[in-house]
Amino acid sequence: MTRTIVVALSFLFIVPVSGQHAPPVRGAVELEVGIDSRRIRDIDTDVLVVPVFKGEDVLATALRDIDRELTGAINVAKQQGLLSGELFDTVPFFNPSGFDTGRLLLIGAGEAGDMDAERIRRLAGVAARAVRDKKVSSLGFVVRGNVPASAAAAAATEGATLGLFDPGIHRSETPSLELGSLRIAGLKGDPATLQAAIERANVMARATNFARSATVEPANYLTPEILASHARTIASEGGLQIQVFDEEQIQEMGMGGVWAVGKGSANPPRFIVLRYTPPAPSEISLALVGKGVIFDSGGISLKGGQGMYRMKGDMAGGATVLAVMQIISQLKPTINVLGVVPAVENIPGPRAQKPGDVFVGYSGKTVEVMSTDAEGRLILSDGVSFAVSQGATHLVDIATLTGTVRRALGDRHVGTFSSDDGFFAKLQEAALVTGESFWRLPIDDEYARGIKNSLVADLNETGGDAGASIGAKFIQQFTDGKPWIHLDIAGTSWPTYTPPYRDAGPTGVTVRTLAELVMQMGEGSLHATQ
Ligand code: BES
Ligand code: ZN
Ligand code: MN
Repeated sequence: MTRTIVVALSFLFIVPVSGQHAPPVRGAVELEVGIDSRRIRDIDTDVLVVPVFKGEDVLATALRDIDRELTGAINVAKQQGLLSGELFDTVPFFNPSGFDTGRLLLIGAGEAGDMDAERIRRLAGVAARAVRDKKVSSLGFVVRGNVPASAAAAAATEGATLGLFDPGIHRSETPSLELGSLRIAGLKGDPATLQAAIERANVMARATNFARSATVEPANYLTPEILASHARTIASEGGLQIQVFDEEQIQEMGMGGVWAVGKGSANPPRFIVLRYTPPAPSEISLALVGKGVIFDSGGISLKGGQGMYRMKGDMAGGATVLAVMQIISQLKPTINVLGVVPAVENIPGPRAQKPGDVFVGYSGKTVEVMSTDAEGRLILSDGVSFAVSQGATHLVDIATLTGTVRRALGDRHVGTFSSDDGFFAKLQEAALVTGESFWRLPIDDEYARGIKNSLVADLNETGGDAGASIGAKFIQQFTDGKPWIHLDIAGTSWPTYTPPYRDAGPTGVTVRTLAELVMQMGEGSLHATQ
């Protein structure tokens, strides 16, 4: 009862959108991308990239004309073993006679049969990176293989924009990006349709780069309040509604989990809520709840020092939600979307919560804290409860939640948990478009054993060996039986391995897939799975 009143009152606290604005996103990549339907030899970009397959007979395929123009140079390179088609190997030809481009760059594309949108994304990433800082202002990229034209155009656009992201956002001298335009060639199809696919892809990739930039941003530059100001910028630019609750409102509203974690820091917590309402009313209301721990020291249950600096990236889930909301504000899906980001700093101090403390969460349930380092689920429990109170019909939470998911799946797959087979199938459908990978892990009720045997409270924060499943199970207690997906990105948001198609650092994983999921849910096929 009091909860309802508090929620009603909370709308009085709406922070005006015209308030504080965030500093500009550093590391932004703004490529102008278009289709080039001219013949290869007429394309006059500074560099023109042409994929070559493994074992390809250059005298028999589409490369024949190029080879002829170059008086057999490609064939010679091939004979001499310089051009194996090995994935991402590059061979340049300077001032190629008969071509308008200044440089032809052949790039190994692997087996022809393995060609797909993700391969195009990666090839475009390698190509764009190969010409960065090389006095190249325009790049042409020839698509080869059997990928549908719109998907190929989108993939090349995303690959280049994602590949060019530079995490060096605080270097005092950052060379400005000379590469300004990308021309995609080799595609047949309606130019307007292809251009629309390109624009959509650029929206997706730029927002993903925003999430990467926020994730790599040091915690002294990204307090909960600054994260909130980024949300305000996104809201005002995209016409979204926004509420930002401060530390007093968080306590008044009964967000005991957010307050328990956030109260130890001199940088007070914020609870960020963004709302997108479609032009026509929809019965579907999807809530995206992102973990926004701007720094996770572990709190009183302090982490070891090694690699602790990486915990500045513990708000990757929250950044994902902001990025997806930014995409949605531009692509305008037909369903309601609620973005929720509890933002806190988890740090020890005289006011910090202690192991054994009990708090009352937004749901009214009491929780006994076992380790202050399991802070993500505490703030997410309030985030998810809040989303339910706002009428969410579907829930997705995104979090760098557990080290165990990192050990189980590495940086290859996102640890995925779901209460609903149909909803999970929708996510997989969206992932087919984006090339990201989601591996489903178990959350049957046996995993609730540990969290349901607190000596003093309704719930224990932790308990048992299967860390990722138990963390997921804890969050599930607050979903009110709504179709729900939990994405544990602790392994994938900031991989240790750096592939040639992007820089080291955060990936922005799940941003594009979640945006795609929202767009597909708006296409009305979700009801069939319910
Ligand atoms: N933020 C960490 C999880 C994490 C680990 C993210 C490695 C990225 C890389 C999370 O808050 C945490 O500390 N989890 C604990 C939970 C445990 C105390 C139940 C963990 O996984 O050890
Ligand atoms: Zn954490
Ligand atoms: Mn932690």
